[in-house]
This record gives sequence, C-alpha cells and structure tokens, in this order.
Amino acid sequence: MIDLHSHMLPGIDDGAVDLSMALEMARMQVDQGVTIVACTPHILPGVFHNEGPQIRQAVADLQRALDDAGLTLLLKPGADNHIAPDFAHQLRSGRLLSLGDTRYVLVEPPHNLPPARFDDLLFGIILADYVPIITHPERLKWVGDRYDLIKRMVDHGVWMQITAGSLTGRFGRKPKYWAERMICEGIAHILASDAHDATGRPPDLAAGRIAAEKLVGAAEAHQMVMGRPFDILSDKSVLECAPIRVEALDGAVRTGGDGPRASDGYGAGALRIGLRRLARQ
Ligand SMILES: [Fe+2]
Repeated sequence: MIDLHSHMLPGIDDGAVDLSMALEMARMQVDQGVTIVACTPHILPGVFHNEGPQIRQAVADLQRALDDAGLTLLLKPGADNHIAPDFAHQLRSGRLLSLGDTRYVLVEPPHNLPPARFDDLLFGIILADYVPIITHPERLKWVGDRYDLIKRMVDHGVWMQITAGSLTGRFGRKPKYWAERMICEGIAHILASDAHDATGRPPDLAAGRIAAEKLVGAAEAHQMVMGRPFDILSDKSVLECAPIRVEALDGAVRTGGDGPRASDGYGAGALRIGLRRLARQ
C-alpha cells in the first residue's frame, strides 16, 4: 500500500514529536504492508511555519534514519497545504509542496467554516495544471451543510482523500457516516492514514482498507490504497488514472464514463447497498 498523507517527520508540526516516534510509526507502516509514505506536514502560516526546502531536508534526514534502522520504507516529500490566496504561485515557487513533485497536491480547508470563494481557489489550482486533493472532507464540520459544494468540486476535477480512521470510527459517528457516503457514492479517490503518532492517531491504512472493502468491494478498496496512489506518484494525468468502480452486491461493476468517478445514478444505489452491507454486520 501507499500512504499519501502522514505527519511522521519529527518535531515540525503536531505529528511525531521526535525521531523515536517517527521510527515507531514507520515500523507500523511496514508491518501492515505499506511500502511508500508521503511525508505531509502542515503548512499553516502563523501555526506551523514549514516550507518546501526545509521539508525536503527533513524527508532526506528521516529516510537516512529509516535506512540505517533497516526499515524498507520509501519516503516522498509533500505537505498538508492549508488553503492560501496565492496557492498556485506558492506551489510553483516551491514554498508549498505537491505529492512527490507531481501534479497532485493536498489541500487542507478550514475545519469550522467553508472558505469564501473556495471554488475560485480550487479552479485557480486546476488552471495552473495541478490536481487538488482535498484532505479529509468527511471530517470537516461543514460537510453536511455544503455537501453540494463537495460534489460540485468533484465534478470539476477536484479529488477527495478520505481518512482511514474515519471508516473505523476513530473520529466518531459523523465522519464515519460522511466517509462511507462519499465512498459509496463514488466521489472518494484515495484513502490515507493522516497518522500523527503511534497511539492516538496511528498509521492504520490496513484497517481502513478492510472497512472500504466491505463497502465497495476489494477491487475499488485496492485502488484507493494502491492503484490510484501509485498513479499519482507516477504523475499520470487524471484520465489515465484508474476510474472509480463501485461493486454492487450482485457482483456487477459499474464505472463512470468521464474520468475517475462513478455515475451519480449508480452512486445512490451503491450507497443503499453499502449501508445494507453494514447493517448486516
Ligand atoms: Fe493532515
């Protein structure tokens, strides 16, 4: 598996506090079958003063420590880039970081309120030839009020990253509901751990994958933790990436015809099927 969202660089945000915790997190990743991790610390001016060059150096330092410890885990640079008005410009200048220097970039919106002119910001990023990936939309406090905005963004080419722990219930009932709904409706592209430590918010991609399998089948769950993350790190265009395929109870598989998303009509059916599956467990 490939985990494209993790806070394991030691001592630079609210993730791993020191090298020993980072190594423990890396060990947990390896133990559950993760081979590549994107190190994506927060970039949030006024709170976490991280910038591209310093993150790259921290990734190189941690990679050396992993190699010395005999841990077979490949690290890629990245960032949990909080929204900013000149986002595309900051990406080009190297202050913000995309995932592994590809066109795919994590974008973290504010948790409590939808930002003003959010569509404009995202379209600006798309016009600059990047693909924005919204981090953990299911955990945003405003997702229920503005689900129409989330769906419209996906229609316009924005990707969605669901947190593995949301599917297992680590963040409570609401994030679990929205995570399941987005996956079953075919508007969730990748799963990631967003791990911050080794206990409270540990690397848990394997558990998330199992939960996703119960909703939409093994093939799509595989795409969320391996296929599409690999396509992302290969910097494939959106149209070359694996489409979202939501598997129904009868084994039928439908795909969307316009890039990586299932069709609306089928999404509603899949949601009912997913919820029935869960109810039987
Ligand atoms: Fe994060």
